[in-house]
Amino acid sequence: MDLSVVALFMLVLVSHGARLDDKCPVERCAKDGPAIRFPFRLKDKNELDHCSYPGFELSCTDRKQTLLQLPNFVKLYVDKIDYASQLIIARDPDECLPSQLRHFSLSGSPFESGYMELSNYSFFNCTSRKGDGYENWYLDCLSGPGYNIYAYTSDNSISYTDLTNCTKLYNLSSVPSETFEMKNTLHLNWSTPHSGLCEQQGKFCRRNSNATGQTECYDKPKSKKDIEKKIEAAVATVARRNANLPGRSLHPALEVISEAE
Ligand SMILES: *[C@@H]1O[C@H](CO)[C@@H](O)[C@H](O)[C@H]1NC(C)=O
Ligand SMILES: *[C@@H]1O[C@H](CO)[C@@H](O)[C@H](O)[C@H]1NC(C)=O
Ligand SMILES: *[C@@H]1O[C@H](CO)[C@@H](O)[C@H](O)[C@H]1NC(C)=O
Ligand SMILES: *[C@@H]1O[C@H](CO)[C@@H](O)[C@H](O)[C@H]1NC(C)=O
Ligand SMILES: *[C@@H]1O[C@H](CO)[C@@H](O)[C@H](O)[C@H]1NC(C)=O
Ligand SMILES: *[C@@H]1O[C@H](CO)[C@@H](O)[C@H](O)[C@H]1NC(C)=O
Repeated sequence: MDLSVVALFMLVLVSHGARLDDKCPVERCAKDGPAIRFPFRLKDKNELDHCSYPGFELSCTDRKQTLLQLPNFVKLYVDKIDYASQLIIARDPDECLPSQLRHFSLSGSPFESGYMELSNYSFFNCTSRKGDGYENWYLDCLSGPGYNIYAYTSDNSISYTDLTNCTKLYNLSSVPSETFEMKNTLHLNWSTPHSGLCEQQGKFCRRNSNATGQTECYDKPKSKKDIEKKIEAAVATVARRNANLPGRSLHPALEVISEAE
């Protein structure tokens, strides 16, 4: 192989390296934690404007959990981010989602309830246990010795005969009903930015740097291994072609590299 071909490979490597830096970073709080990339960013880490979107800041806890902070200081651990369907699966750090409901609000965040609808609930403190009904949920993580906390859906009229040993606590509106039905799991999805479109094409998404709010798709960064493999294949092919065409060493190389791209 002649020197010009080697120089060409070096050039390809360098240009690949430069383009890798151009892309938005992918972070993780833990090896098996969800990948954090556009529209999400890791707080204090990724300051690139085109790589994040307001309201999508995550942070890592000391124990390497991925933390999402919603308005009113509601904190959730994020277990999964499905970028193609623009959905996150979250849970309460203390495994008691109902305890955060009094402050829970999705208005002012980019998220909406992604699995079940929002309902209104009335909360009661009862000295006796009730049978589980269609419209009431026993909240064991809020209950204590001698008292039982229940949430009643207030969308249907509540049968108050059932509430003789109960005192009314409070009403909450617009609560995701899965808070009670799924135990400690919350699905949240987002509509803006519409980053799932790129993901469905096998690409990544980022903010278009020339127009605020708009997004564009770009090719997924190739891993170093992929690049090495392609260059090895290119070298082998060039070597083979050189054997056949001794007079033309550089042009076939160029051809092969553009194929490998
Ligand atoms: C979020 O999830 C809800 C409930 O499944 C669905 O009605 C809504 O269309 C979803 N929004 C987006 C942007 O995917
Ligand atoms: C429920 O009522 C009991 C007394 O019957 C009281 O000790 C307890 O603190 C109340 N719990 C809540 C969450 O209000
Ligand atoms: C709570 O909700 C119930 C059922 O919708 C309603 O009858 C009651 O007036 C509400 N109470 C308050 C304090 O808003
Ligand atoms: C829930 O309460 C809000 C007001 O707090 C009301 O606008 C909404 O219609 C209620 N939803 C249902 C399903 O009753
Ligand atoms: C209310 O409490 C009393 C005494 O604990 C009990 O005998 C009664 O069955 C309870 N009523 C209901 C409707 O739970
Ligand atoms: C802005 O971005 C759009 C979409 O990527 C592109 O079509 C357009 O040419 C860009 N405009 C300028 C001035 O760079």
